[in-house]
Amino acid sequence: MEPSRAPDCHGGPLARQLVAPLLRREAVGSTHHVLTFELDRPLEAEPGQFAMVRGAAWGSSPFLPRPMSLLEAGKTPSILVKVVGEGTRRLATASPGELFTFHAPLGRGWSPCPADRTPVLVAGGVGVCPLLFLARSLASLGREPIALYGGRTACELPLDGALGRVAELRIATEDGSSGETGLVTRLLEQVLRDTNGRVKAFVCGPRRMMAAVAGMCRDAGALCEVSLEAVMGCGFGACLGCAVPRAGGGYLYACSQGPCVDGFAVDWGR
Ligand SMILES: Cc1cc2nc3c(=O)[nH]c(=O)nc-3n(C[C@H](O)[C@H](O)[C@H](O)COP(=O)(O)OP(=O)(O)OC[C@H]3O[C@@H](n4cnc5c(N)ncnc54)[C@H](O)[C@@H]3O)c2cc1C
Ligand code: FES
Repeated sequence: MEPSRAPDCHGGPLARQLVAPLLRREAVGSTHHVLTFELDRPLEAEPGQFAMVRGAAWGSSPFLPRPMSLLEAGKTPSILVKVVGEGTRRLATASPGELFTFHAPLGRGWSPCPADRTPVLVAGGVGVCPLLFLARSLASLGREPIALYGGRTACELPLDGALGRVAELRIATEDGSSGETGLVTRLLEQVLRDTNGRVKAFVCGPRRMMAAVAGMCRDAGALCEVSLEAVMGCGFGACLGCAVPRAGGGYLYACSQGPCVDGFAVDWGR
């Protein structure tokens, strides 16, 4: 199919609707899987963009494709999947050779980090995916970011090793099984203090974590960008199903105006 732009067009690489076989699936711990697909032509994508993915043989269950952040682009793009329901369960049990429809790249990726700000990546659980893509991209430009990664336990930190290879990694777990004991915001407090707020935080994780990080960044005079979480129907601005309350009233559409948006543009309390 011909490449297309989302209605809220942003000048990035054009989205393509592809049918691609699964090349391999690797389990990461007991609940996460990295799926790598094989394409005829390389997929161009920016860190923070996502794909709408669906098994070609899924029938009507589930009917809609599932949004998944891209972990890598190129000829063998990959995604990280955490099982939460039927779609992710089917992804996590797929076999090599199985065909998938893959609509990508979609949405707005992360915007650049100003030269006078330290990039600080704040990840919660599966939110690591678009941040690892970003960390690799920053590292290739000679800007190693600080990465703050939190989860309830050490088992909820997939790809922590890969992140540690391209970022200065600091970990927090609620049960103390890895890194500092407590929430990832505790690590951020220290970074904001040490840098006097001269950072740009890139944040992806549970909504409560992103809300807390945005509040801390505002108070410290830091910049903050978040990757929005929303249930998506189409992924390209047609169904209006991914509305997120906007600060000052109205809504932001996570798929076409995001998923990466200014953290202060979201009304976290509504
Ligand atoms: C831009 C974007 C990028 C994402 N990237 C990843 C990723 O890299 N890896 C990953 O594992 N997941 C990611 N997700 C979340 C993923 O799309 C959902 O977990 C998935 O669609 C659930 O489908 P399901 O059929 O397994 O579960 P369902 O049966 O549809 O839902 C199971 C539970 O998960 C909740 N849920 C479903 N979709 C979402 C959602 N989008 N956000 C929050 N809660 C949801 C439902 O409300 C329900 O409680 C991303 C979501 C978005 C919007
Ligand atoms: S998912 Fe359809 S408009 Fe965003």
